[in-house]
Amino acid sequence: MNYKEIIDKAALGEVLSQDEMVILLKLNENEVSYLFNEAKEITEEYCGNKVQIRAIIEFSSFCRCACAYCGLNSYNCNIKRYRMPLEEIINTAREAYIAGYKTIVLQSGEDLWYTKEKICYLIKQIKSIGDIAITLSIGERDFEEYKAFKEAGADRFLIKHETADEDLYNRLHPHSSFKNRIKCLKNLKELGYQVGSGFMIGLPGQSYETIAKDIMLLKELQVDMAGIGPFIPHPETKLKKYKKGDTFLTLKVLALSRLILKNTHLPATTSLGVINSTHKGIAFSCGANVIMQKVEPYKYRRLYEIYPNKAKEEKTIKQERKELEDYILNIDKKISLNRGDSFKKKYFKFMK
Ligand code: 5AD
Repeated sequence: MNYKEIIDKAALGEVLSQDEMVILLKLNENEVSYLFNEAKEITEEYCGNKVQIRAIIEFSSFCRCACAYCGLNSYNCNIKRYRMPLEEIINTAREAYIAGYKTIVLQSGEDLWYTKEKICYLIKQIKSIGDIAITLSIGERDFEEYKAFKEAGADRFLIKHETADEDLYNRLHPHSSFKNRIKCLKNLKELGYQVGSGFMIGLPGQSYETIAKDIMLLKELQVDMAGIGPFIPHPETKLKKYKKGDTFLTLKVLALSRLILKNTHLPATTSLGVINSTHKGIAFSCGANVIMQKVEPYKYRRLYEIYPNKAKEEKTIKQERKELEDYILNIDKKISLNRGDSFKKKYFKFMK
């Protein structure tokens, strides 16, 4: 089968073999337009022409983990750590809501200072502001805590599987295990969360076959969202000497994921934009339908260094929202005015 036939087969919803997926991941610049066009059509068919804009509050850079790629790893003594006070987090969420955001992503390192009670308080307070969906992205906690967060009103949870290669996962995450990560994802599904996973492109030791497995794992988990971004080396990590992930390959992975996952939310990731802002724009014409915007005060943004990033000119939340909207309209897309819940029907009963 040639690559166009493989793309047609995937578009029809037939299952691709690992080898067929690898063929698509290896397409060159002259061949890739057929893949990108098909991904664009499927995005429009399943997600429409609207981009979902989410606000993200990175509220704590304390982390108990030792992820080999992440600048916030607990061994890094060369960063200033911060915790946002609860009221400041709530006020930031309110400001974002007033600026037009309908999803607030609460993200942090794995910081147990934010106990079950504190997180539940945050959720309840933010939900009382208005019709806001809350996504938690705070890492691994036990079933009981996930349950309490859901009961307090959390709608979604983001916890990436990072790589589907179990050995590689365990080497990169000495503090935990692949099995535990998958268990967390399954617990969250069971509790009725809309669940987001995702992985990095270009991790040392990753092959095309691993990436095919990553996409198949997303399919198997039936995730509602998947963040796929290139690895960026951080100088204060074990992986500092490795090269960054390839953004062209990231776009192909995004397009192939769209072909296979159909109605899953796929963001144009921040890390893609950090390496190549043009490619971040292209992401919206080959599969992406979501964008995230940081909204915490700048004094914190500078310190939340998962990977190196250039400092940006300071603007208000409102100004940034307006710029983002203009950007989206400029690339011929529309702005979604709803919360951007999962497209998967099984969740409708949870959304009242
Ligand atoms: N490069 C790219 N992405 C990274 N992440 C963490 N560190 C890096 C890095 N060095 C991603 C991981 C994590 C998310 C919060 O950020 O996928 O889940």
